[in-house]
Amino acid sequence: MIRLTFMTDARRVIGASTPEGNARRFALLPPALPQVMARLYAAAAVAVGGRSLAGAAQPVLRESAKYILATEPDPAAAGELAHAELCTNHIELVERFRDSEEELNVIGGLTVLRMFLHHAARLDIAETSADVPGDLVFDDWVTAGFDVTVVDEWEGGRTLRASRPEGAAARNKRNAMALYDVMFNWDRPRDAARLFLGDRYTQHNPHVADGPAAFVDYFERMAGEYPGKRVTFKRALAEGNMVVLHCHQHWPGDHDYAGIDIFRFDDAGRVVEHWDVLQVMPERSANPNGMF
Ligand SMILES: NC(=O)c1ccc[n+]([C@@H]2O[C@H](COP(=O)([O-])OP(=O)(O)OC[C@H]3O[C@@H](n4cnc5c(N)ncnc54)[C@H](OP(=O)(O)O)[C@@H]3O)[C@@H](O)[C@H]2O)c1
Repeated sequence: MIRLTFMTDARRVIGASTPEGNARRFALLPPALPQVMARLYAAAAVAVGGRSLAGAAQPVLRESAKYILATEPDPAAAGELAHAELCTNHIELVERFRDSEEELNVIGGLTVLRMFLHHAARLDIAETSADVPGDLVFDDWVTAGFDVTVVDEWEGGRTLRASRPEGAAARNKRNAMALYDVMFNWDRPRDAARLFLGDRYTQHNPHVADGPAAFVDYFERMAGEYPGKRVTFKRALAEGNMVVLHCHQHWPGDHDYAGIDIFRFDDAGRVVEHWDVLQVMPERSANPNGMF
């Protein structure tokens, strides 16, 4: 199973994008936090984001990292790499640990947490009660279908545990978001099809032909034409073997869309049919509520 461990403040800020921002942030963290985090970090296999490792305040991360996530080997991190494996394709770890009994604890900043969110079975979150300044906000998890409980409280914050509900409906919701995320956000439609589509895939979107191969061809083309495109999930509903996702699609250089995707699943939790309805996000509205 994949578990994500991170700290956040009540506004869901998880970090800063500059070293100065990080220094300001670290100075305001509650004194109890390092001990809380060290407890949550413990696991047999730990994967750490390369950028986070470079600035890691916690030596425990340097010692326990088994996998370092980075697109390129970093000569400055050569010492760390000596006892850890460099992973340049996070999907390899997803495949290995997603449905395994063995636990992978993933630790990192925004990029890494987003890489694994839709594959994680559990999140452990140390949440400070004070605002801690920073510009990296990780709030995608709030709509990702976890049940959240408070595990304990300590001076300056509390520990939350977010777990997936049991059952086929929750599994299908998770698989729908994982399929979309791997295909759309990480531009790996071939991996998405192999991991989450059935052998037969009936398509109702008129731009795409039936079957996994047509899905791969279409989204490989979109990956080339729209680098940096991104989807976020606002709502997920499940009933029987169907899942409905309410999504915000961002296509750089083009319109943003509000979309409804409907997926039908087989009994093994693979997607076998898809419908969608898409609306260009309007510039004006008669109400102040936004599309979501
Ligand atoms: N709140 C928390 O618990 C927590 C924990 C750790 C860090 N942080 C904060 O988060 C910030 C850093 O966040 P970040 O998002 O910039 O970095 P990050 O998540 O720590 O690191 C992202 C890493 O992923 C690599 N990468 C990108 N795509 C990949 C792929 N498909 N497969 C494998 N690796 C891939 C990047 O490589 P390249 O470098 O080659 O692009 C980069 O090293 C800092 O402010 C830090 O303090 C917060």
